[in-house]
Amino acid sequence: MAKKIGVLTSGGDAPGMNAAVRAVTRAALSKGMEVVGIQRGYVGLLNREFEEMTARSVSGIIQRGGTCLYTARCPEFRNMDGVLKGKAACEELGLEGLVVIGGDGSFRGAGDLSSVGIPCVGIPGTIDNDIQCTEYTIGYDTAMNTAVEMIDKLRDTTQSHDRCSVVEVMGRKAGFIAVNVAIAVGAEAVITLERPYDLDAIAAKMVKTKNEKGGKHHFIIVVAEGVGQTENISRTLQEMTGIESRVTVLGHVQRGGSPTLRDRVIATEMGYHAVELLEQGIGNRIIGLKDGKVYDIDLQEGLAMKKPFIDQRYDIFYDTAY
Ligand code: ADP
Ligand code: F6P
Repeated sequence: MAKKIGVLTSGGDAPGMNAAVRAVTRAALSKGMEVVGIQRGYVGLLNREFEEMTARSVSGIIQRGGTCLYTARCPEFRNMDGVLKGKAACEELGLEGLVVIGGDGSFRGAGDLSSVGIPCVGIPGTIDNDIQCTEYTIGYDTAMNTAVEMIDKLRDTTQSHDRCSVVEVMGRKAGFIAVNVAIAVGAEAVITLERPYDLDAIAAKMVKTKNEKGGKHHFIIVVAEGVGQTENISRTLQEMTGIESRVTVLGHVQRGGSPTLRDRVIATEMGYHAVELLEQGIGNRIIGLKDGKVYDIDLQEGLAMKKPFIDQRYDIFYDTAY
């Protein structure tokens, strides 16, 4: 039975991380455990940046974006020396378990720490939804809603000028954000790494639609950042169609803002489940969502899984985008 656990956020922040920190803290306290907040991820663990978490220290954060524990990337933690220093820091504090809220890199660190005797449980927190063993990662819904809100605004000016807007959305190498956002904003095309794309075909479709009676005079093309060709796509489409094109990179704004209901609720359920595992001394697990329900899986097994792309949704997009 773990009596004292730690919690940290690591890697890129995501809206809803605060809700997860709150859930971990409150669930653990209500089970009679002590909770230590570790600031700035593994960096703070090695530098001993700690705070005692109380019910009140997580008051008023469920609705806030970012992470009250701050976050960082810690190159030192990628080798065993760093991991052993992390183990020593946990032992100094008397931690019998650690909740790591972050992405797959953070989970590898959690796996290493588990392997040297500190039971760790990972909670998926990233806007990209690119963690293999879970249908959902905290922050995904908020980030997509933010992107939709921004592109709705962008459409106003794109329409006034009869232009094409090529909009780059985040997602690292994954196109989940791009496809969903493209559907939600009624984009004319979406370009992701998971599927081949054909600029000739996109340009031909734009020209055809423009020349139809009462046809379209402005266009929104959503590009996943992983494609790495946003400027080039915009320039090429302009040359091919003669339609003036502008690039908008939504960037880090997608990582901020108040989390949606979905992010708050799932973060709370996942945080609660993580504490239940650590209470029983169970570590080396990742919390995920499977068939809409919170579950947990062996950390290495979870990281080795392959995540299917949303092929059907991608096809539905193209069958309705004209
Ligand atoms: P994310 O968790 O969002 O994928 P990163 O890949 O930047 O973000 O990882 C966050 C942190 O996790 C890194 O700075 C490092 O401390 C740790 N980490 C990343 N990869 C590994 C690894 N292979 N082994 C151990 N720790 C890692
Ligand atoms: O993983 C989240 C994410 O926002 C990705 O979508 C993006 O590629 C990356 O992080 C940006 O990282 P940084 O904060 O280092 O610029």
